[in-house]
Amino acid sequence: MDLKYFEQWVLRDFGIDLSAYKSNQLHRRILTLMSRVGANTVEEYINMLKTSSEQRQKFLDYITINVTEFYRNPEIFGEFDNFIKGELNYNRPLKIWSAACSIGAEPYSIGMILKELSPSVKHKIIATDIDNTILNRAREGIYTSTDIKNVPSYKLNKYFDKKDDKYHIKNEIKDMVTFKKHDLILDNYESNFDIIVCRNVVIYFTNEIKEKIYEKFSNSLNKGGLFFIGATESIYNYKKYGFEKLSTFIYKKS
Ligand SMILES: C[S@@+](CC[C@H](N)C(=O)[O-])C[C@H]1O[C@@H](n2cnc3c(N)ncnc32)[C@H](O)[C@@H]1O
Repeated sequence: MDLKYFEQWVLRDFGIDLSAYKSNQLHRRILTLMSRVGANTVEEYINMLKTSSEQRQKFLDYITINVTEFYRNPEIFGEFDNFIKGELNYNRPLKIWSAACSIGAEPYSIGMILKELSPSVKHKIIATDIDNTILNRAREGIYTSTDIKNVPSYKLNKYFDKKDDKYHIKNEIKDMVTFKKHDLILDNYESNFDIIVCRNVVIYFTNEIKEKIYEKFSNSLNKGGLFFIGATESIYNYKKYGFEKLSTFIYKKS
């Protein structure tokens, strides 16, 4: 397969820079998807993507991998909660970024933590992802029992309405979060964040891209701000980015 040609076409057509993703893994995923949809050559597959919105969405969903859940790795979320208490003044409005937020489980989890800590303070959570379809689902805020399995029962009762077998996040949490489309590789980064959470996405990127992203996150954080990463990630050269290590998965901008 001519991956380079396909990457260039995807960049032009979708505006997604596949060269930033680890190529072996990506290559494998594209070939699997092509065989699943019955495309024998890259040209055939490109034609499918040009003519079928269903195939386009399938491609996007498969490439971007949007697996998530509320309080993913609950014990680390517990640590995160404690570091917010210990390190930040949450009695004034905090500005938070949940980057690559998928269907919103992550920013809403953070919303509930902050609501418990300072119910009357208007914290601002910006939640972004590259995939518009997923962002629309996040805005709806309707979840399955699997998505919410780590939510403690008192929070489930307080912050969700159960309708049939679905859980609807309440407006008091929904209103804390603004969802926006943002590409971590190609778009500019906002600044002055007190917290940035970016979990389970940089693992798909090349080391070079990952390093650029850490650099940009560091520039976007206020001094003393927290950076929370995924449970299979670790920043070995954290000092290079001006971070102090609070734990394996939580760093502080020095
Ligand atoms: C595995 S999910 C992680 C969701 C959540 N952060 C968590 O840890 O549960 C990865 C998300 O990254 C998004 N993504 C992939 N490439 C991206 C990019 N270049 N910029 C922004 N988001 C991206 C996907 O659309 C997907 O929703």
